[in-house]
Amino acid sequence: MGIDLTKEQKNRVEELLSKMTLTEKIGQMNQESVSIVGGFDVPFEQLIEMMTDGRLSKEEFQNIMATAETDYHEDAIREGKVGSLMVQDPEKCNELQRIAVEETRLGIPLIFGLDVIHGFRSVYPIAIAEAGSFDTDLMEKTAAMAAKESRSAGVAWHFAPMLDVARDARWGRVSEGPGEDPYLGATFARAKVRGLQNDHSSTENYVAACLKHFVGYGACEAGKDYNTVSMANHILYNNYLVPFKAAVEEGAQTAMASFNDLNGVPSTVNKWVLRDILKYSMGLNGFVVSDANAIKECVVHGIAEDEKDAARKSAVAGLDMDMGTEIYINNLESLVNEGKVLVEEIDDACRRILSVKMWLGLFDQPYVSEEAMKRYEEIPEEHKALALKAAEESAVLLKNEGNILPLKKDAKISLVGTLAEKKDEVVGAWAMSWKEKDCVSILDGMKQEFSNVEYYPCGGPEGELSEDEISAACNNGDVIVAVLGETVAMSGEAASRADITLPGKQRKLLEKLIASGKPVVLVLMNGRPLALSWEAENVPVILEGWHLGIQMGNAIAHILSGKKNPEGRLSSSFPAVTGQCPIYYNHPNTGRPAGNFKFTSRYLDAPFTALYPFGYGLSYTSFEYSDPEVSEEKDALDISVKVKNTGEREGVETVQFYMQDVAASIVRPVKELKVFEKVSLKPGEEKTVKVKLFKKNMGFWNNQGKYLLEDGFFRIYAGSDSATENCKEIRVSFDDVERLSDYPMEK
Ligand code: GLC
Repeated sequence: MGIDLTKEQKNRVEELLSKMTLTEKIGQMNQESVSIVGGFDVPFEQLIEMMTDGRLSKEEFQNIMATAETDYHEDAIREGKVGSLMVQDPEKCNELQRIAVEETRLGIPLIFGLDVIHGFRSVYPIAIAEAGSFDTDLMEKTAAMAAKESRSAGVAWHFAPMLDVARDARWGRVSEGPGEDPYLGATFARAKVRGLQNDHSSTENYVAACLKHFVGYGACEAGKDYNTVSMANHILYNNYLVPFKAAVEEGAQTAMASFNDLNGVPSTVNKWVLRDILKYSMGLNGFVVSDANAIKECVVHGIAEDEKDAARKSAVAGLDMDMGTEIYINNLESLVNEGKVLVEEIDDACRRILSVKMWLGLFDQPYVSEEAMKRYEEIPEEHKALALKAAEESAVLLKNEGNILPLKKDAKISLVGTLAEKKDEVVGAWAMSWKEKDCVSILDGMKQEFSNVEYYPCGGPEGELSEDEISAACNNGDVIVAVLGETVAMSGEAASRADITLPGKQRKLLEKLIASGKPVVLVLMNGRPLALSWEAENVPVILEGWHLGIQMGNAIAHILSGKKNPEGRLSSSFPAVTGQCPIYYNHPNTGRPAGNFKFTSRYLDAPFTALYPFGYGLSYTSFEYSDPEVSEEKDALDISVKVKNTGEREGVETVQFYMQDVAASIVRPVKELKVFEKVSLKPGEEKTVKVKLFKKNMGFWNNQGKYLLEDGFFRIYAGSDSATENCKEIRVSFDDVERLSDYPMEK
């Protein structure tokens, strides 16, 4: 799967490999981290992280970068000891590339990589939000936009898409991935790989994807980042591997090993996951890069005695490139000479890296043209429009009591909350190549859309409340729009929260606003599901705004004014209280499913279910469903359902089809999303939505890695979210149906 080199390109790679010294081969396996050496001695990617998670303001970061002397490892590049760097400035990329191409013995180009997770210059919604658009065409287009913009800056390799299934919203990195569902994650994965990799009309239009973090990172115990991961094989196979398998089938070029240990073996040195599953079983024929500093951390994990041991275990396990520790370049040559690492293992890693560089066209077009460098200095209108469309389709209307929304254009609005004015908060975690001038804050958007908006900061995720501003907001407005939530730094990497209610004094602020008796519209800006039991009880309107990117302000304003009828759905369940985490819809039934009888699987002090379930989202109109019709064909079930718009205005419904395998050789989830389709309906209009559920996709892997299709009863659901009870039971047989491939057992 993946690298489809021409015969001529393959020969060029082999010819090059045959000329390379061992040092040069290992050089390709070394990604240097650009370190700031002038009075701020920290690896470049840590600086980036500090800037993206708010520990460092953008201005502070730029000042450091402007004044600090930066080590780009020019000498090491000249000696053929560097294969990759994280640089995003086109002039600097060309300067370093010129050393690699014109001053080294073999002229092998560098590959520049970067975390382009949800947009480069034109930042679009964070993944947990965009996945909720359920619009795979959109997901592909935004990735393609990011590929073009980043290539023009010299970046040909995105450390994206992040595909970690995540069920515990205490984990800050739920923001970066497509939510809790394996099927939606797989759909997202395919779309992103296509968008990033498939436009070969020019080498300026595509990049290499990097599937991360392989594997199981989203199941870190207690939602605590970097924490240990333990899971049964059937959970790994039927959930956490599913998006990665889909992405490799779609042709992904590279992957990144995850920080975590999986059942005691860190992915960085885990031969079973890296070689047996990812490379041999799934068929990734590109390369695998470590996560930042991860090889060094194998010593800390306690899986390697020292750095040399970590180098050996990583190389043997199939980890092809070292991100930022120099452990490979400092140890692999002696390990090969001592016979502890085979030269064939080095050749395999080097071949994979050279092949991706060849596939990217870097050998023939290693530099960024002057014209390309300037292409996206101003964001093209079509990119702005796409960012707006993505933002509008990703926001989720959770509650609209009394149809307070949409608001009239001349409504007297008190806009409240410090997040409302912050342009740098709309972009979310891991955005690092945007310009503030391109960001539309919610205040900007509201002023644009409504004629009578007064802004009162009042308070935010951190700090104190302003009583004066609160009373002014309550007295002066006929309706209060409160923009509350998390700062960007409160989600993303290293941002686990033990209490996922609204942080700071925002609940108190809301209480005061509600006490005014004026209608309150809560607009959330956050990077994870929040525990909203109080808000759901007391606030009449709740719009989940996530971090929607540079056009967030316009998207939110268009939804509040009704110019845009909200169509987003939840890609992750929202708990009522933090204590319910991890919470997800596709759970096993247990022998005592939660119920009013005491002796069932439930909490004494929390609801049985999520506050808002996976797939949930409201519209300004309403939809009705018929019972599903299901008929069995040889290789598929034909499912149809009638959906009617029973409201007053046109709307888009995401019709979701779930299945339950009622009885199997291991317990199966109460529901599994298998197909979805978006339909637009005018008031009163009814459509029949017909889909196929292919039988080969109705099976599961057991703990032995065997993919099983077992005759028996299935319930087929059709509804507007994962809580639907609209179902039909059918007996299905799988005679002669093609099975998906098995997974190799851990040796
Ligand atoms: C980080 C993240 C990873 C990112 C890498 C490079 O620690 O875990 O997602 O791609 O380092 O910045």
